[in-house]
Amino acid sequence: MIKNICCIGAGYVGGPTMAVIALKCPDIKVNVVDLNEARIDAWNDENLDNLPIYEPGLAEVVGQCRGENLFFSTDVNNAIAEADAVFISVNTPTKTYGVGKGQAADLKYIELCARQIASVAKTPKIVIEKSTLPVRTAEAISNILKNTGNGVEFQILSNPEFLAEGTAVQDLLNPDRVLIGGEETEEGKKAAQALVDVYKNWVEPEKILTTNVWSSELSKLTANAFLAQRVSSINALSELCEVTGADVNEVSKAIGTDSRIGSKFLKSSVGFGGSCFQKDILNLVYIAKSYGLSQVADYWEQVIILNDHQKKRFAMNIVKTLFNTVSGKDIAILGWAFKKDTNDTRESAAIYVADELLNERACVKIYDPKVKEHQMFSDLDYLKTRTTEENRSLVTVSLDPYEACKDVHAIAVLTEWDEFKDYDWQKIYDNMKKPAFVFDGRALLDQEQLAEIGFVTYKIGKG
Ligand code: UDX
Ligand code: ADP
Repeated sequence: MIKNICCIGAGYVGGPTMAVIALKCPDIKVNVVDLNEARIDAWNDENLDNLPIYEPGLAEVVGQCRGENLFFSTDVNNAIAEADAVFISVNTPTKTYGVGKGQAADLKYIELCARQIASVAKTPKIVIEKSTLPVRTAEAISNILKNTGNGVEFQILSNPEFLAEGTAVQDLLNPDRVLIGGEETEEGKKAAQALVDVYKNWVEPEKILTTNVWSSELSKLTANAFLAQRVSSINALSELCEVTGADVNEVSKAIGTDSRIGSKFLKSSVGFGGSCFQKDILNLVYIAKSYGLSQVADYWEQVIILNDHQKKRFAMNIVKTLFNTVSGKDIAILGWAFKKDTNDTRESAAIYVADELLNERACVKIYDPKVKEHQMFSDLDYLKTRTTEENRSLVTVSLDPYEACKDVHAIAVLTEWDEFKDYDWQKIYDNMKKPAFVFDGRALLDQEQLAEIGFVTYKIGKG
């Protein structure tokens, strides 16, 4: 029976997942550990508004459990030593060097964790991979644990996370399914059952699926690839709609009512972002290539190519519409997060749109209700397109949306934050340069209302 859980990695996956396990399993002690001291301090901040991750409902859950059965610390070794089950929820970014650069997942953080668990463990442990990983990572973890450990028994499980940011707490409380992959041995089955028993505290048993390890790992990559593919498919159609005079929202609605297609994930946008979609597809592409399956690899790679095209054509459309030059013009960006209700900006379309505009020497004014200024600059600096100084001279960040939109030539809406719909658009119009343009990359705003005020509007996917 699992009585003590250690989770290595206090990020967007580890933090919310462990908070919900602690909430639903008061008899289990949950230690969330991370090397990043500032992040742990933020998780322990008395003011729950200062948690490092913004997710609706998360602060309430943390407030309820923290100090009771949920603890955040940097003492990784102690937490591992105490635990019956260790979740590995560290980041697995795309490799930026060496073999597989730009496609394969960088497993160095996972390997470090496995080595640390091996060196610290004195009692048997179930080790659970929670991060998104390429197929056959469990095998590598198992190799390290079994060959470098102190002769301690380890069972490796794959338990991929399907939560989406912005709805993490709800997704964790009411998952469509929980997937647990384990070895097909007696001990493997026992370990999987121990984890099933944890989830059974709040998830109906028929929603808890057990599979072999490889199926579980591949299912996670496949789920994300299918979801991203739907977005790229509708985004491909958005361009066709724009030249033919159709409205992509109407097309989405019409096809989504077919129960075989379904209505979700058919919202055309300036491009998908987030830490998972691109990384997981690149991973799938890399795996397919490494088995010599070039047609399979090319098929999935096209989902990414289309997404890059969508971001670029959105930015280029702004340039074209503003009389083929944005040099020295002020452009406001509303929304920097990769979707609403999160402060996460990883792979956000806004970063790439801003980069293209800055390449054209525009001055960019950014507002996002939850993303901090230092994060925006760090995202732009990371691209290395311009120096840090250049970014600071061309970009300003506003804490107030009306301020961000003051005196600009155009506004680009890049995240679908609900509050954008409620702004006083007449006031924004009055303070802008004329003609006043709005480029709606999320098909969020009421175009007719904007046009009545006097705006020149562009809505993604509408001809
Ligand atoms: C995704 C998966 O949904 C989740 O199951 C997995 O665990 C992690 O990856 P996440 O990246 O948090 O979750 O967000 P998601 O809601 O999937 O959105 C990803 C991107 O696609 C966002 O940029 C979003 O704006 C975009 N998107 C989504 C669209 O452009 N149109 C849609 O119809 C849906
Ligand atoms: P995710 O979205 O997958 O949760 P994040 O980057 O938000 O990714 O979180 C991963 C966390 O894992 C980071 O806070 C990072 O500091 C932490 N981490 C990475 N490697 C280790 C390690 N070896 N030990 C402890 N924490 C680690």
